[in-house]
Amino acid sequence: MSELHVYDHPLIQHKLSILRDKNTSVKEFRELVGEIAGLMCYEATRDLPLEEVEVETPVAKAKAKRLAGKKLAVVPILRAGLGMVDGMVAMIPSCKVGHIGLYRDPETLEPVEYYCKLPPDISERDVYVVDPMFATGGSASAACTFLKEHGCRHIKLMCIIGAPPAWEKMQKDHPDVDVYVAAMDEKLNDHGYIVPGLGDAGDRIFGTK
Ligand code: PRP
Ligand code: URA
Repeated sequence: MSELHVYDHPLIQHKLSILRDKNTSVKEFRELVGEIAGLMCYEATRDLPLEEVEVETPVAKAKAKRLAGKKLAVVPILRAGLGMVDGMVAMIPSCKVGHIGLYRDPETLEPVEYYCKLPPDISERDVYVVDPMFATGGSASAACTFLKEHGCRHIKLMCIIGAPPAWEKMQKDHPDVDVYVAAMDEKLNDHGYIVPGLGDAGDRIFGTK
């Protein structure tokens, strides 16, 4: 069964409060999305395997630990997921980045795919799907289905704000995918927006409204 991790770290919660504020500028919003993604990445990668190595410090030989070379990929759901990529890549610089373009049809709220470009060896990689918003869960579920069709077996989903319907959908559609959020909000409104949420993440990252 998948697990839901809600990150209540004070730094994440502080940044999230600024993100939610409707008066926060595009510049600050964009920076904060990247910073929160970096902090969440730090937590979500806690289970990465390590191997022991010997290094020589200026003083003596030391046994130390390094990442065991697991292949990783970050896959943002376009557009808003792009805002989380830099924060992730800053933490795991050798990861590959794939892109899945989905938008929600405003009438049906169903995800519509318009772009996909993945690393050729994506099936061998542990994948972190990133998207700030997890509302009905339609986009996240479609992205995971798509990645599984490409052979991916180890997927984690990282979002900034989630809502109960999305978590219910993911548990049903992808019980093998763990979900990481900074907050689980109360509900969705009639337009499928998270309440209280932060509004339209893509528009706020790119200044398109
Ligand atoms: C937003 C968001 C998610 C999706 C979440 O994207 O970035 O991808 O909605 O909603 P869901 O859980 O109900 O699928 P949007 O469709 O607004 O596209 P954009 O990123 O291009 O703005
Ligand atoms: N997409 C967004 O950008 N915001 C929401 O609240 C829900 C979906």
